[in-house]
Amino acid sequence: MLSVRSLHRNFGGLAAVADVSFDVGEGEFVGIIGPNGAGKTTLLNLITGYQKPNAGKILFRGRDIAGLRPYRVKRLKIARTFQVVQPFNEMTVRENVEVGARFGRAAWLSNSEVEEDCARALELAGLSNVAGMPAGALTLGEKKRLELARSLASRPELLLLDEVMGGLSSREVRDLVQALKRIHASGVTVIMIEHVLHALFQLVARVLVLDFGRKIGDGDPSAIMSQPEV
Ligand SMILES: Nc1ncnc2c1ncn2[C@@H]1O[C@H](COP(=O)(O)OP(=O)(O)OP(=O)(O)O)[C@@H](O)[C@H]1O
Ligand SMILES: [Mg+2]
Repeated sequence: MLSVRSLHRNFGGLAAVADVSFDVGEGEFVGIIGPNGAGKTTLLNLITGYQKPNAGKILFRGRDIAGLRPYRVKRLKIARTFQVVQPFNEMTVRENVEVGARFGRAAWLSNSEVEEDCARALELAGLSNVAGMPAGALTLGEKKRLELARSLASRPELLLLDEVMGGLSSREVRDLVQALKRIHASGVTVIMIEHVLHALFQLVARVLVLDFGRKIGDGDPSAIMSQPEV
């Protein structure tokens, strides 16, 4: 589904993503781990068009999408969350999710389809009971789940998650693990950046490890975690 080849992104003299290559097959659930500043978010920004690579290829179902604008990437049914949540605070939770449902999608999408997609996304993210609240009034944990709901509302086929579990209570983490299992079981391919490893390892069969922009591991979580470098 996704083939990343020799991807590079520099910021001044710093190589944030350096010669990274990997493949993700349809239906996989892949984790990405690595210390702060390893290049995880930058990699996600490159895939989703928020930043342009200096070199390398990003093939999605055989087509090179490197450098496409975010709305064009979204049209290919690739959705993402943002590590630093930025909801429209004065709008309701439901309206925020509607933005996710409509962004980059066909203008002929009917209101009833949007309604259905929003209700489903709110339900999956466990936010149905706060749908009418202004987003600014949510807890951090709820705002993280709003990120997830906004990304799900467009019915993505490839979902890219950036630390959706940061700041959540252990109960919220448990609920989110179950929700992500349901999302994956419904046929969505998922790539998940996460520092909450005990949760990540309940979900993924494979993990990529980044360090200083380079890929230093790729494989089965237990085998990866026994590598001294990791
Ligand atoms: N827009 C930018 N301008 C300059 N440097 C940047 C920019 N974005 C990221 N960087 C630098 O690139 C490196 C990789 O950052 P990135 O945010 O991708 O790391 P990360 O693995 O997501 O870290 P974290 O776990 O803290 O979220 C860091 O050294 C960061 O300071
Ligand atoms: Mg990050």
